[in-house]
Amino acid sequence: MTVNPEESNGTISSHLYGHFAEHLGRGIYDGFWKKDAAGDYIIRDDVVAAMKELGVPNLRWPGGCFADYYFWEHGIGPKEDRPSVVNNLWGGVTEDNSVGTHEFMDLVAELETEPIVVGNVGSGTVEDMANWWQYLNHPGESPMSKLRAENGREEPWNVHFFGVGNESWGCGGSMRPEYYADLYRRFSTFLHAYGDVKPFRIATGPAEDDYNWTEVVMERAGDMIDGIDLHYYTLDGSWSTHKGQAVNFDEGGWFRLMKRAMFMDELLTNHSAIMDEYDPEKRVWLIVGEWGTWHEQEEGSHPGFLYQQNTLRDALTASVTLDIFHQHLDRVKMANIAQTINVLQAMILTDGERMLRTPTYHTFDLYKPHREATALAFELEAGEYAGEGETLPAVSATVSKNEEGRIHVSLTNIDPNEARTVEVSFDGIKKLKIKSARILTAEEMNARNTFDAPDALVPTEFEGAKFAKGKLVVSLPAKSLVTIGLE
Ligand code: AHR
Repeated sequence: MTVNPEESNGTISSHLYGHFAEHLGRGIYDGFWKKDAAGDYIIRDDVVAAMKELGVPNLRWPGGCFADYYFWEHGIGPKEDRPSVVNNLWGGVTEDNSVGTHEFMDLVAELETEPIVVGNVGSGTVEDMANWWQYLNHPGESPMSKLRAENGREEPWNVHFFGVGNESWGCGGSMRPEYYADLYRRFSTFLHAYGDVKPFRIATGPAEDDYNWTEVVMERAGDMIDGIDLHYYTLDGSWSTHKGQAVNFDEGGWFRLMKRAMFMDELLTNHSAIMDEYDPEKRVWLIVGEWGTWHEQEEGSHPGFLYQQNTLRDALTASVTLDIFHQHLDRVKMANIAQTINVLQAMILTDGERMLRTPTYHTFDLYKPHREATALAFELEAGEYAGEGETLPAVSATVSKNEEGRIHVSLTNIDPNEARTVEVSFDGIKKLKIKSARILTAEEMNARNTFDAPDALVPTEFEGAKFAKGKLVVSLPAKSLVTIGLE
């Protein structure tokens, strides 16, 4: 591996490490919130502490699909006056609107994060959406700021990021891109700048490789869009039959998931190329607003709650995906893994009062030093991992340099059988020393944390790196991720 410290791919925005909390399963209720002795929902301190340790650059809410079913007026005012509705999409459970705008913004304040609020285009009206925006942001005298004050909040929240619908091609309204582009123009016209807050308007983007969606929406509405929201999930199977198992998989399942995760590179390349036609200055962000692994939900868990375990395999698909984002920094500026707590590729799982950090949490932790650092260009040739009659590059990487001049190298060996030795040379830099080195690995491909053994799989000190003849020599065990800090 040759690193060129003079050549950069750009700054790694913290926003690429964003999160997502939908009213789905146990993400909100019994996730970020729990019931106290009086039966009222309160924010979980343990969950907030764990997430703050990781750092949450942004949090997307209230969906997902739920966003296009959500009427924000149901979630304000005295709790006893809030209507209950049916969460038709996710398990058919009763949503009593205990967590609404004020509660979500309290969580945002506790996490010290930035909100991304997604409005309802699918079943709501322009007036609804414009009123919500005014409720969130109007600093002076207005009908909605008056209502906000009556509900206990004088100051506006200054929400900047606003989604104009979600998956409008599917659960958000089954629209054609031509129709959505027109609706987008109409809805977003009524999101006005208030005080210092100018809306950053996020349009529904494509599903996976629906390049026509990107083409049509960019062509017809690109001039009014600030970010376009691509969704791509990694499955070992298919949407229509079986998505694949979270824990009980064989090496074929390991290989296929790695391959699907790597497909993100092709998606970002192709969608970016289309965006370049309409926005050569790269003003519009390509946002990966939903990504992560999606397995069959855990047996015995509530249908429609999308609760799944998380193994070393998930952790390495996450590091490979983050590496890919770092190769597309000129266009890809924000991403949200789905979803933070108890849903899909979660950071945290809870069981009553118990909670655990998943292996994916630890990937995000190992990648923390890269945030807001400069991504350095490199060339890497570390052999191939063969499986299922195909091959994949065995090692994936990110190299970055932070403001203090410290370089961090992250290397993922996706091969579950073979160790790899990577020799890293840094063009033009002579004296570097290893300052830190941590590894995430395990004997089993499906190693994971459980409520009885919450720290079974955590990063440990890594002894397999040294300098020899001016090169950093890294002995990467099979199926491992390491991050090494150099100065
Ligand atoms: O994250 C789960 C669901 O996946 C979201 O609600 C939706 O946007 C996507 O299809």
